[in-house]
Order: sequence, then C-alpha cells, then structure tokens
Amino acid sequence: MPVAAEMADALNVHMGRELSAHVQYLEASAWFDAEGLPELAGFFERQAAEEHVHAMKFWRYLQDAGARVVIPALEAPKADFESSEEVVGSALDWELQVTRQIDDLVRMARTGSDYATEAFLQWFVTEQVEEVATMSELLRVVQRAGEANLLLVEAYVSRKGAADGGGSAPAE
Ligand code: FEO
Repeated sequence: MPVAAEMADALNVHMGRELSAHVQYLEASAWFDAEGLPELAGFFERQAAEEHVHAMKFWRYLQDAGARVVIPALEAPKADFESSEEVVGSALDWELQVTRQIDDLVRMARTGSDYATEAFLQWFVTEQVEEVATMSELLRVVQRAGEANLLLVEAYVSRKGAADGGGSAPAE
C-alpha cells in the first residue's frame, strides 16, 4: 500500500532538511579549511557525506513506498561564523532540531498506523542519538580548549578519527 499523501509530503520535506544539512556541513568544512584546521575540516566533510546518505535513504524509501519524490527548495547554508564554537554549536542545534523532527515523523506514522514508515524511521531515531552525542562532545572539547588552542581540538579529532577507523567514507 503506498504511503499516504500527507506522510509522503512530510518525508519529502525531511529529505530536504537532510540535503540542507549536507550543504551546511560542506560549508562548515570549508570554513575550517580556510582557518587552517584540516582535521576539523575533514570531520565536517565526513558529516556532510553522512547527511547525504541520510537524504538518500529518504529518497529511496519514498520511491519504494510508491510516493513521488519532490525535492523542496533548499535554504542557502550559513557561511559566516565568528568562531569554531559557533560552527560546532550551530551544528549541535541543528542535530537537536532534526531529532525533534524525526520524533514528529514517527508520531505521524504511528498515528496513521503506517507501520512500514515507522519501521523505516527507527534507524534515524537511533542515528540521532549518536549524532547529538558526537556533536555535544566536540562542542565540549572546543569550549574546553578555547579558540586559542584549536590545535588541541585538531589532535582530538585526529585521534578520534583514527579510533573510529578514519578514512573519508561516511560512517552513516
Ligand atoms: Fe541527518 Fe545529522 O542528521
């Protein structure tokens, strides 16, 4: 049974948010690169790749569920930041917002007895716990180091990347 029109609209809107996150993190990566902080640039490049994977999951699910893919207009990403703390803090705010939006989608699926969509969304419920935890930890490290000691943050990101397997492939 195809997904209901209202649910399909909401899933398309959310696919747009994931694409927006993809370009926002590309912008964040470029900001750190311009600041001479390649590890943080790499971190956000990998985050951008993950967001692309997230968007593609919605893109694929919509088609599998018999709905039309309608990619919404995307807002231009924020490009000007005052500090590293602002970049990472904005990313954490974004992840918290996405977590609430995923919860809203789950609620909508459950209310509509759309168990297939609810099952599809479960992956994102779990993923958001990890996304928020990762960004919260990075923000704490940036705050602890301070803007004058960002090379310590670079070392932290490098160590963590190596411990997580490193590489440029998205971890999802
Ligand atoms: Fe796709 Fe970082 O949430």
